Amino acid sequence: MKKILVTGANGMLGQDLCPILEDSGYEVIETDIDTLDITNSKIVSDVLKENKPDIVIHCAAYTNVDKAEEDLHTAELINVTGTENIAEACGKLGITLVYISTDYVFDGTKNEPYKPNDRTNPINNYGMTKYEGEEAVRSLCEKYYVARTSWLYGHHGKNFVETMLSLADKPEIKVVDDQIGCPTWTVELANGIVKILSKPYGTYHICGSGHTSWYGFAREIFVQSGLNVNLIPCTTYEFPRPAKRPSYSVMDNDKICRNWQAALKDYIELRNV
Ligand SMILES: NC(=O)c1ccc[n+]([C@@H]2O[C@H](COP(=O)([O-])OP(=O)(O)OC[C@H]3O[C@@H](n4cnc5c(N)ncnc54)[C@H](OP(=O)(O)O)[C@@H]3O)[C@@H](O)[C@H]2O)c1
Repeated sequence: MKKILVTGANGMLGQDLCPILEDSGYEVIETDIDTLDITNSKIVSDVLKENKPDIVIHCAAYTNVDKAEEDLHTAELINVTGTENIAEACGKLGITLVYISTDYVFDGTKNEPYKPNDRTNPINNYGMTKYEGEEAVRSLCEKYYVARTSWLYGHHGKNFVETMLSLADKPEIKVVDDQIGCPTWTVELANGIVKILSKPYGTYHICGSGHTSWYGFAREIFVQSGLNVNLIPCTTYEFPRPAKRPSYSVMDNDKICRNWQAALKDYIELRNV
């Protein structure tokens, strides 16, 4: 039985990923900051030597996109130095590494879906640190997968679906309609990760098929939840955030995941059980 060590296993993705890996026949070692602080190179090396996994799936990250604008130091420490530590140890020990990256490595100036080898050009600190993490993986490991995902939601973390549903009783909700991307359920991503493990090493996009704006995403959340909400589309200019976002970060996922609406339906049904 192959052994997979997961970093950031207590996070939104990690909590859905670990049981799916077990169901897929892997032995899973769950770690998070208390058992494997990725910013400490000695701990990283010791834990990997001790556990001898065949594969590391690196989910641990600094994920607060807006906060990264004011706290680049911490974002770099976790997303760049932390990933370098993991990649260096995996490279030395011959372990296959799966690095979870983001659509925010792109600048959003394209007008058709981004392919894995398209030019990257991050426009915010979070995207820049995740991109540097990708580069560390590529330079320090031979056996690696870079798996980019986007607009993630899941049952075990703060996310857009839950934020929208928590606002459902407001007289009106304004949502940005000029940023286009691919909503992705963590369960779909986890299944996609399992799928790419049998494909050649390299860079993959694992996100919901199709695309929408945040406004379109919100509308679908309320329709599928049977809620009648006064939803108003607005522009990014009307709803400024500390971090710039790409206006178009749709990724070509090579059909790895289902249509985003079908996945959202299952998420909402499961949530209501
Ligand atoms: N969420 C999205 O919309 C999105 C979109 C694209 C890509 N991604 C990528 O997908 C991956 C999973 O995201 P997620 O939403 O599941 O993130 P998350 O919920 O924030 O989980 C990240 C986990 O990493 C842990 N962590 C932080 N610093 C650490 C350290 N020094 N050592 C070890 N663990 C540490 C966190 O612990 P604490 O909670 O205690 O800090 C948390 O349990 C990340 O690589 C992220 O960049 C996410």
